Amino acid sequence: MTTLQQQLIRMGVRLLIGAQNQQLYNNLDWEKSCAAFAQGDLKYPDYYNQDFHGIEGGYLTPVAAVTYDAVTAWASPPNETWLRHQLIKQITGQPERILDLGCGTGSTTILLKQAFPQAEVIGLDLSPYMLVMADRKAQQANERIQWAQGVAEATGLEADSFDLVTASMLFHELPPMQSQAVLREALRLCQPGGQMLVLDGNQKRLRRLQRLTQLFREPYSQMYAAESVERWMQSIGYETLSTQYLGWIHQINTGYKTPN
Ligand SMILES: C[S@@+](CC[C@H](N)C(=O)[O-])C[C@H]1O[C@@H](n2cnc3c(N)ncnc32)[C@H](O)[C@@H]1O
Repeated sequence: MTTLQQQLIRMGVRLLIGAQNQQLYNNLDWEKSCAAFAQGDLKYPDYYNQDFHGIEGGYLTPVAAVTYDAVTAWASPPNETWLRHQLIKQITGQPERILDLGCGTGSTTILLKQAFPQAEVIGLDLSPYMLVMADRKAQQANERIQWAQGVAEATGLEADSFDLVTASMLFHELPPMQSQAVLREALRLCQPGGQMLVLDGNQKRLRRLQRLTQLFREPYSQMYAAESVERWMQSIGYETLSTQYLGWIHQINTGYKTPN
């Protein structure tokens, strides 16, 4: 490849992810930064050790961490921030403890903290690379959020201890069995009357848009589209269920744990 070609590629990447993220990619000591979040005894599940979005090494790479926000903005029509605000609007009451499962770079987690400044907010993700980005974003926004590396379907957190559990854009990245395991774990974590909110792809619509799901090169999104989050929630024991279809290709599912 000529120097000119290399420069053009660098410029293209810079335009896509921004100069700040490119610098971060080049200059951050990723291993050291990740070590601050890494749980030594954590084993990555086999379904997770995949090349998500065509990135070799998937979420366990700096490439995933620095490109995620740019790609997600493009993949969330009509407007990513609007979509995330719709999730916040579905929240009932004033939650005091909130857990965001599969928090990624923390875009929803930070909005949750901004909407409920008094609440203790925890963002949990398997990828220390994504948590490094989430933490940087929270610091820039001046928000105090606790970040934890963990498996969403077996968090090890205390039962009945959260008013609200959320999972945004997580389930289309999991095999359906694992999504159901996450919903069971969230029900365990919610206190009686607590709320579970899921923002993800519109399953009815994605079933008919196979080319789109193939374009994003996610190993499980077609399996996700074939099923129903509302049906999963019902069979697992959530109450007062609803599905709201949003924008072009998204949905929000809500359910509650039975009050005492
Ligand atoms: C598509 S991203 C969504 C990130 C974020 N919630 C958002 O709304 O942008 C999926 C995230 O889930 C994480 N993830 C996937 N499987 C997980 C699991 N079993 N437990 C915890 N995190 C998981 C990935 O590392 C990734 O950061």
